[in-house]
Parts: sequence; C-alpha cells; structure tokens
Amino acid sequence: MLSFLNIKKDYRLGTQVVKALGGVDGEILSGEMVALCGPSGSGKSTLLNILGMLDMNYQGNVFIDGKPFPRKASEATAIRRNSLGFVFQRFNLIPVMTAIENVAYPLTLNKLSAKTKKEKAEQILIKVGLEDFLDYRPERLSGGQQQRVAIARALVHQPRLVIADEPTASLDSHSANTIIQIMKTLGHEMGTTFVIATHDSRMASQCDRYINLIDGLISSEEIKWNA
Ligand SMILES: Nc1ncnc2c1ncn2[C@@H]1O[C@H](COP(=O)(O)OP(=O)(O)O)[C@@H](O)[C@H]1O
Ligand SMILES: [Mg+2]
Repeated sequence: MLSFLNIKKDYRLGTQVVKALGGVDGEILSGEMVALCGPSGSGKSTLLNILGMLDMNYQGNVFIDGKPFPRKASEATAIRRNSLGFVFQRFNLIPVMTAIENVAYPLTLNKLSAKTKKEKAEQILIKVGLEDFLDYRPERLSGGQQQRVAIARALVHQPRLVIADEPTASLDSHSANTIIQIMKTLGHEMGTTFVIATHDSRMASQCDRYINLIDGLISSEEIKWNA
C-alpha cells in the first residue's frame, strides 16, 4: 500500500548540514499498524512528515498504491485531504470547538450536508467511546479523551493512511494503552493503515510490526521490549 525507497533528507542550518535520513526503505501493507521506533533524533518525525506529504523536499521515492507521491504542494493537498489522517503528540484540537465540531472539521470542504457531517462525526466519536462527551470542549476533557477526539478527527473521512507522531507521549500509561488499543481496533475494522512514531517500546510491542530507526538508518537490531 505504501512503499518508500532510498529516502534521504538533510536539514541545512546556515552552513551546517544535519543528515536526518541516510537512505531508508520500507513497505507497509494495507491495514497494518506499524510502529516507527528509535531514540529521540533518530529521524522518526522526519520520515513521518515525508510519508504524510507534509514535507516534499527529500531525495528518494514514495509510492501509495503504486502511484508516486506528488512533489508539488498543490497536488499533495488534495491527496492529503482525502487519503491521509494525522494524530500528534499534543492533540492539536481547536479549543473553541466542541468534540463533535472538532471531528467534523476535516469534512468542511466535503460536499455533504451539515446533517450528514454531524452524523459521521458522531458515529466515529461513539466508536472511540466518547458518546457522552460530544458537546464538550477540549478543556473539559482529559488528555486521553482529547487524544480520542483527535483519533476520531483523523478517521472521520475514512483515510487510507493515518500518520501518528508520538501519540501517547503526553499520556499516562493507562491512557496510552487505551489509545493504542483504539487505534488498533479501528484500524483493523476500517482497513486503515497506521504508521506510529514512538520511543516507547511498550507501545511499539502492541503494534503489528515495527521499523527501527537509528541515526537516520533502519536498524535490524531487535528492540528490548522490557528496557
Ligand atoms: N527543522 C530542522 N532543522 C534542522 N535540523 C532538524 C530539523 N528537524 C529535525 N532536525 C534534526 O534531524 C534529526 C532527526 O530529527 P527528527 O526527525 O525530529 O527525529 P525524531 O522524531 O526521531 O526525534 C535530528 O538530528 C534533528 O536535530
Ligand atoms: Mg519526533
């Protein structure tokens, strides 16, 4: 479903060049939940930004369903809106909107009636267990609940692929577990592929598979799950 070949990325800071990715390859199957592991600074966010079409300035090739990724921002926007969803460490909900409004927001440009948009948002919020919180603003929700809203928002338009960058890093371990289980259950149910960056081995161990990044390269070293 998603494959990437020899991805390289340098950041330039004045005269300094930071090598973030040194040539990475991978293949991710439809409906798979893959953990992208590695210590801080290993290149996880850099790779996720490329796979999420947020960064188009890289070397190498990415294919989604056999089609090359666009290299122009204008083309990427349309694909991103239809086929991709995002979950971030800090939830990134809109504070003045209720849970249901936040979730319906990605459907704004969709040619659906307001009623249908609301129904879709409600359905997915029920799936993440927030049926009693539809009209709550983020400030009245716990971190775990906010992240559930963010997952619902990422899934409301039924994307092929969801990119999640450290989605449990701001949560206690109990909430983190719930979040992983929700992503796994919904991903498998809806056939959505998840690529999740994490430096938490407990979280990675619950994914279908992991890719281990070290210093911008894929490492075949096994992760010590109890570390
Ligand atoms: N915008 C940037 N400008 C310069 N260097 C960056 C930038 N973003 C990331 N880097 C560097 O690239 C490397 C990989 O970073 P990143 O992809 O954020 O790693 P991770 O998400 O695994 O912590 C690090 O050395 C980091 O300092
Ligand atoms: Mg990161």
